[in-house]
Amino acid sequence: MTDATTMRADDLAALREETAAQLAAAADLRAWDAVRVGVLGRGGRLTALLKALGALPPEARRERGAALNRLKAELEAAIEARRAELEAAALEARLAAERLDVTLPPRPHPPLGAEAGAIHPISRTMEELVAIFGAMGFRVAEGPDIESDWHNFGALNIPEHHPARQDHDTFYLPPGPDGRRPVLRTHTSPVQIRTMLTQPPPIRVIVPGRTWRADHDATHSPMFHQVEGLVIDRAITLGHLKGCLIDFLRAFFGIADLPVRFRASYFPFTEPSMEVDIGWNRRTGELGKGGDWLEILGSGMVHPRVLANCGLDPREWQGFAFGMGVERITMLKHGMADLRPFYESDVRWLRHYGADPLSPPSLAEGV
Ligand code: PHE
Repeated sequence: MTDATTMRADDLAALREETAAQLAAAADLRAWDAVRVGVLGRGGRLTALLKALGALPPEARRERGAALNRLKAELEAAIEARRAELEAAALEARLAAERLDVTLPPRPHPPLGAEAGAIHPISRTMEELVAIFGAMGFRVAEGPDIESDWHNFGALNIPEHHPARQDHDTFYLPPGPDGRRPVLRTHTSPVQIRTMLTQPPPIRVIVPGRTWRADHDATHSPMFHQVEGLVIDRAITLGHLKGCLIDFLRAFFGIADLPVRFRASYFPFTEPSMEVDIGWNRRTGELGKGGDWLEILGSGMVHPRVLANCGLDPREWQGFAFGMGVERITMLKHGMADLRPFYESDVRWLRHYGADPLSPPSLAEGV
């Protein structure tokens, strides 16, 4: 080996060592990239050595070329290894900086009326209705807010020019393909029809839901809520209706001896029909005593024509239905005078009348 060759071998060794030192000193990916370019880049040190090969005589070129290629592979590996190291370190640093302490204790549940959320009284009443009727074996049924004229009126035995249609102050929508105007349902009774059409008897459902009438004052809102009840079975009588509603009203208002009165009335879809009153004191508003009567809901035995409209044979199946206003029974239960705050989202009102979300209604504790 000549002196010149040794010298050149030494400059390769120097390049190897210096690159290793530079890589070790590169603290981040930016510094690392500068080292990489300084060695392997277009003007890099190794690139320059490779370019210089062409000037050597063939014998020396082969030997030198092989040495340079080995060095190149070595340096590329070292550079790549350092990159992996730096990337792993950067990830570690990020994980450490963004660490979440999952051992922090939860924030204490603030007392109701402070920052805690509360269940809206309408929702709460619906939960109570589901709890009470659920215990009697009722399931919840639903239907759309936009109804066909037939579901809302026709199938319920309310004929075309019947005054009951005017009574309902109906919101009409533009006519559909059949030329008839859909309506915003004026009561939850169309869900009686939908239920009888889709499930075979026996049926026991309640229908809590939104209803609509063009009416607005202290006790009426264009959007309000009703709950419907429907029972269809063999040999259902007025006695079942009375027992069911008396039990419900006493459970809901929490008054074991609440007086309940059934008064003959008229609805096109029930026969006979009855309005139901509860005892109260007109002067003080107190429920349960005082000798006055307050109308609270409508009910009756499902009209044979309604059963027939739903494909049920009235000689085989009978039943009863009832419907009441959710706002109305909520206002009576909690002594509220005005219905409008239900929809005004006034946080002070909601805090006062809202229910604790952590204790849903249960019959064991009394709803
Ligand atoms: N749908 C009636 C109303 O809105 C209430 C009702 C329901 C009456 C079921 C009898 C039977 O006034």
